[in-house]
Amino acid sequence: LNQILFQNPNEPPMVFHWFPLVGSTITYGMDPPKFFKDNRKKYGDVFTFVLLGKKTTVALGTQGNDFILNGKIRDVNAEDIYNKLTGPVFGSDVVYDCPNAKLMEQKKRRFQVADRYSLGPSQFMKVALTTEAFRSYVPIISDEVTSYIKRCPDFKGESGIVDIPAKMAEITIFTASHALQGKDIRDKFDETLADLYHDLDMGFSAINFQLHWAPLPWNNRRDHAQRTVAKIYMDTMAERRARGDTGKQDMMTHLMNAQYKDGRPVPDHEIAHMMIALLMAGQHSSSSTSAWIMLRLASRPDIMEMLYREQVEALGADLPPLTYEDLAKLPLNQAIIKETLRLHAPIHSIMRAVKQPMPVPGTKYVVPTNHILLSAPGVTASDEQYFPEPDLWDPRRWDKESPLAPTIVRNEIIEDDEKIDYGYGLVSKGSTSPYLPFGAGRHRCIGEHFANAQLQVITAEIVRQFKFSNVDGSNSVIGTDYASLFSRPLSPANIRWEKR
Ligand code: HEM
Repeated sequence: LNQILFQNPNEPPMVFHWFPLVGSTITYGMDPPKFFKDNRKKYGDVFTFVLLGKKTTVALGTQGNDFILNGKIRDVNAEDIYNKLTGPVFGSDVVYDCPNAKLMEQKKRRFQVADRYSLGPSQFMKVALTTEAFRSYVPIISDEVTSYIKRCPDFKGESGIVDIPAKMAEITIFTASHALQGKDIRDKFDETLADLYHDLDMGFSAINFQLHWAPLPWNNRRDHAQRTVAKIYMDTMAERRARGDTGKQDMMTHLMNAQYKDGRPVPDHEIAHMMIALLMAGQHSSSSTSAWIMLRLASRPDIMEMLYREQVEALGADLPPLTYEDLAKLPLNQAIIKETLRLHAPIHSIMRAVKQPMPVPGTKYVVPTNHILLSAPGVTASDEQYFPEPDLWDPRRWDKESPLAPTIVRNEIIEDDEKIDYGYGLVSKGSTSPYLPFGAGRHRCIGEHFANAQLQVITAEIVRQFKFSNVDGSNSVIGTDYASLFSRPLSPANIRWEKR
């Protein structure tokens, strides 16, 4: 009654809850997408709920996505929310531990290599360089996948059962570290780096939104790991300089040769912290996506077979080593990534602090500065308004001729046509597309095209070697674990494999 009587009519409706501090934390935390959809039915696209004592306003639908993700810098801010978690894990002076203008410059200049990888519409990008960089990554990623399968004891023999997410996490880190950071860094993952990154990961638990500062055992290990990993990167940079080894394609080399706008070189500690940030940003999202891809393939052996046939038909029965150019000849292989990200986008909630009261367009509501804003583009990506039979995972829907083709594909607007420059090159504004697994606006992902290439190569190599199925032979797929900040498969997620 209190909540109804004291509801400010200019603020969005409040999701009903019994206890003021707990609010809806538990129902939200158990299944965020269900929580959004249930409350959307009751309250509409814009509503507020209490998350760990904090009023959190959700804006759904394509307009809601646009309202938050394209929010003006004077209105919304990401660093106030994220830096509690990311600051101690990445280290100082990068990403959210600096003013947004510096991040934009980092994304443009210091991430210029990432931009170049991205084939994205950046004014600064040289297509030849992009293609050249990617050309070198495809064989690196292929080799890492095949040598992993050869040496992994869980893939010995002709068939078996394996908990697949753990394997995909290892494959992701070996492929990303080798391609983005170089072989010398990759080799250190066999020694110390894997354990250290594991300790860093513990800094990313939801509880650290509150307790990031506390001298608790996992935070002490996080801090020790951060210092040790940063030192490994800095020592490697010194070794490369001493060897005169500064002409590689990897991102670390590029940053060592890069400068700020004002001509200052990028300090080594910032390069080291950036390496941690990029590897971790990519690791969580790509490894959970690749695990979902494998689980979906196990639930649909017929589609896994189609993928194999696609490679044989496009590349020849002897299946020669994959090249970057080959990826474009495998549309179903590409669609697997798109369709998996549609239903399993690893980042289910994107948050912003509110810096000025924000009127919500098309409503009478004003979001006050003591609220947090939450965007969930996964809701539009599984909305039947745009995607026929939205809960059905079927990569063939991305073919324009398919009866399941989303309206955006029929109209050829997979991404928003409208482009905008937030200071790091042109990116899609994201105001009309319901499909935004990589976000939109100034904080949009710069790793999208790297992740796409990485996931396509991993999928193609796995399809060459294995047939997967569910252990019980069914077509079902395992549920999602939302306990960490990323949506990943519940554990254990076993599948049956058989060598081709
Ligand atoms: C930002 C998704 C892979 C680096 C983002 C955002 C999303 C996202 C949704 C926006 C976050 C926000 O607005 O708060 C994904 C997905 C991936 C992926 C689904 C893989 C399937 C990668 C990789 C890298 C990377 C491989 C690095 C090589 C970044 C960076 C940002 C970002 C640097 C920008 C942060 C900012 O400006 O605030 N990503 N990402 N991501 N991602 Fe990714």
